Amino acid sequence: LHQMLPPYRIKVVEPIPFLSPQERRAALAEAGYNPFHLRADQITIDLLSDSGTGATSAAQEAAAALGDESYAGARSWFRFRDEVHDLTGYPHILPVHQGRAGERVLFTGLLKPGQLCLSNTHFDTTHANVKLAGAEPRDLPCPAAFDLDSPDPFKGNIDLDALTRTLTGPERDRVGLVLMTITNNGLGAQPVSMANLTAVRDLCRRHEVPFFLDAARFAENAWLVGQREPGYQDWTPRQIATHAFGLADGCVVSLKKDGLSAIGGLIGLRDDDLHARCEANLIATEGFSTYGGLAGHDLERLAQGLREVVEPGYLRARAASTARLARLINEAGVDTVQPAGIHALYLNAGRLLPHLSPQEFPGHALGCQLYLDGGIRCAELGSLYLGGMDDQHRLVTPAPFELVRLAIPRRVYTDTHLEYVAAVLADIAKEPGRVSGYRVVSSPPLLRHFKVRLAPI
Ligand code: F0G
Repeated sequence: LHQMLPPYRIKVVEPIPFLSPQERRAALAEAGYNPFHLRADQITIDLLSDSGTGATSAAQEAAAALGDESYAGARSWFRFRDEVHDLTGYPHILPVHQGRAGERVLFTGLLKPGQLCLSNTHFDTTHANVKLAGAEPRDLPCPAAFDLDSPDPFKGNIDLDALTRTLTGPERDRVGLVLMTITNNGLGAQPVSMANLTAVRDLCRRHEVPFFLDAARFAENAWLVGQREPGYQDWTPRQIATHAFGLADGCVVSLKKDGLSAIGGLIGLRDDDLHARCEANLIATEGFSTYGGLAGHDLERLAQGLREVVEPGYLRARAASTARLARLINEAGVDTVQPAGIHALYLNAGRLLPHLSPQEFPGHALGCQLYLDGGIRCAELGSLYLGGMDDQHRLVTPAPFELVRLAIPRRVYTDTHLEYVAAVLADIAKEPGRVSGYRVVSSPPLLRHFKVRLAPI
């Protein structure tokens, strides 16, 4: 029976704010109806991101107290490096302050202008950094990913036929990198199977193209492989993760997720020349290669976090908590991308709010309603984020789906907090017609969702 319990209890807590409905209405108006502009002390339950938002453990904080802040060759660096080497097997490890810094350093060293970067799905900063390196990001998700309701266990996979066609077709000489995002954050937090990763490895070898992992949620992917893929039932999550890293030529990792820390990232590499290029860039822009923009205490928290994140008890409890929230939400009549992943749930706002056209941003409208009714903050993943707009900020190409992401910070909210989220959603689902749409008032040309301002229609 103990398997139903999270393997920890809570030692340090912080208060959460409760605003009145009037205060929330005023706060959202002040924020230009963009939750990114809300102040954290205006939010009761913050599901905007699972990145850097987790709780650390007593063991991590004890390790942090031992952080060695020497400029070069700090003890904390060696502890971090050894831990990462043991987990990933890569001979070269470079620390960076967060994932996107790793992307910039890696792509600058690896991609040439005009080249193609192929992926199951690029995360938004990854997409931006491929472009900044002068290359072209292209997503090749598997067809099952587009059926939001299908229970297919590995909807994070890349489309192997499309990958083969690109690697053998007229553009084959342009392909500079294949990057697999595990789990697939851009498409419903869905995992990638080991079979798919192995096939990608084989194709990349045959066509002499580098194969890297964007492994921000490597432990959660490993847990889902252990649960869903035949042949891995007797493997530990750590063994599965190590095997996945072993298939690739290297990795870039945001450690703000499965590093169980507020900040951090890394690049893992096998190739000596690429390592030398990346290291020079790292020293010039992030910091010396034994700290890469991180403090010694960060490196200590990360080294300990990387041990804790692959513990089966932790992963089982986290997966169960997300699955329970999905069940409550689905029972309340709100559909989520199936099957439930671990770090986030994706609400099908388009289906819940059929009275709103994509031009009225149903995903954004649902996100705003969750804040107005319950002080809950989350992120739209629909036409506001992905759609094409004209100069007057009018939507001209809608996104394929109107989704809202509820990201679940690690070890932060109890099942009671999540029951509250389901209850607020259930109230909305009883009377979805009262949710009204939004229009864009002003919008920046790049990474629109962070800075856009809107108004209710
Ligand atoms: N890759 C993936 C798959 C990510 O989800 C993220 C960040 C990054 C790279 C960039 O890492 O934030 O450390 O620079 N995802 C966060 C999110 C921001 O909310 O999904 P970073």
